[in-house]
Amino acid sequence: MSQILILYGTETGNAEMLAEDLGTHLEIWHDVEVTNLTDMHPRDITGRDLVIIVASSYGEGDPPSSAKPFMAKIDRDLPDLSGTRIAVFGLGDKAGYPETFGGGSAKIAHALQERGAILIGEHGLHDVSGKGLAEDTAIAWVDGVLGQIT
Ligand SMILES: Cc1cc2nc3c(=O)[nH]c(=O)nc-3n(C[C@H](O)[C@H](O)[C@H](O)COP(=O)(O)O)c2cc1C
Repeated sequence: MSQILILYGTETGNAEMLAEDLGTHLEIWHDVEVTNLTDMHPRDITGRDLVIIVASSYGEGDPPSSAKPFMAKIDRDLPDLSGTRIAVFGLGDKAGYPETFGGGSAKIAHALQERGAILIGEHGLHDVSGKGLAEDTAIAWVDGVLGQIT
């Protein structure tokens, strides 16, 4: 059993629903906590086996509003995240925003890696303008990520 923290960044709730779906999938085998990024200080994400970030994109491929305070605290407090294992899944709209598809989740991943976090697996992405359900893409992705740490 691994300790897994799932953090979501959202504006209209899609990433939150997806984070809850991932939590339901993982809690059969793992100790899982699902939290909004806005309620978490970046220094407090350490000490788990894996931190999963699920986030949408807005503006020019920027993190959604619920992730902005978290990003500001990274810039302000420069937390030491050395060795913290993260996995990142983005929700985006490739047809509507081809130039900045998934950019918000990529910026969060970059900021955490700059503080020493280690990205596990591929950066997952689901295109909401494409085919298939986000939860199907995300569950296949997370099973692949967990295969790399267990
Ligand atoms: C005003 C606006 C701007 C957006 N900008 C981007 C973007 O730059 N890149 C991207 O991949 N998706 C973009 N999207 C798509 C959203 O990220 C996508 O709809 C996502 O599912 C929203 O999830 P949420 O409900 O968790 O916020 C944008 C959507 C809106 C309405």
